[in-house]
Amino acid sequence: MDDSTIRALDEVRRSSTWRGRLRRWFTPPAPLVMNPEEWRIDAPLGRWNLYIGGAAARPQGYVNLDLFPLPGVDLAADAEFLPFAVPLFQRIECDAVLEHVARPDAIVGELSRVLLPGGYLHLVTPFAHPFHEYPRDYRRFTLDGLRLLGETAGLVAVKEGWRTGPTATLLVFVLEYAKLWSPKWLRAAVHAVLGWVLFPLRYLDHLLFRKPGVRQLGNHCYVWLQKPSAVQRLGDEKPPLD
Ligand SMILES: C[S@@+](CC[C@H](N)C(=O)[O-])C[C@H]1O[C@@H](n2cnc3c(N)ncnc32)[C@H](O)[C@@H]1O
Repeated sequence: MDDSTIRALDEVRRSSTWRGRLRRWFTPPAPLVMNPEEWRIDAPLGRWNLYIGGAAARPQGYVNLDLFPLPGVDLAADAEFLPFAVPLFQRIECDAVLEHVARPDAIVGELSRVLLPGGYLHLVTPFAHPFHEYPRDYRRFTLDGLRLLGETAGLVAVKEGWRTGPTATLLVFVLEYAKLWSPKWLRAAVHAVLGWVLFPLRYLDHLLFRKPGVRQLGNHCYVWLQKPSAVQRLGDEKPPLD
């Protein structure tokens, strides 16, 4: 597998040359707003927490595991074969990773295995989003599909919804479409101009997040899953029939 795309992105983000700085200066704001509802949950960090695929993100309070040994990565490994023998983690973040892996069900099974009873797994995936390789791009998820992945691994969904909405979808596709028509030398400029003109529309998603129809066109969805504790499992058992 090739990590050149990820390395190139990391270099652009961190470059201190005048070209790198100029590029960051003209980069328009992201064409999306995040749904604040996603983080209204009581899922505290524990002594050990795991972040999957955080290359270049440097998440605080987590062991950062990625396929590639990039800056900020604590452990280079494939999340399908986690190098932990027993459950260790109170909270696991797996944000925008499952679309890039060959067997998402195997990875969620592994994440469930290393999660402590009572601990939380937070999954985020794109639904309507352009092709993007890190280092591959295999699929998209509906919210129902994402929840099913977690439930199949023995976890209980405790909260779910849309991180980024239909307007984000519209804007990211317009920007990608415009790139298709632009010669390579003009692409960055077209992206910058359109990005600056269109980004104020992103706030419309605050009006759309609560509508049921958001699932038709939402951009990224999330689900919070909890691993049942032994006590919960006993409590869930059906009472014996008379
Ligand atoms: C789209 S990025 C995730 C971005 C990240 N959530 C952030 O906020 O910066 C996907 C990441 O998943 C990593 N990745 C892909 N397949 C993986 C695997 N099988 N195991 C571990 N990490 C993987 C990639 O190397 C990449 O860094």
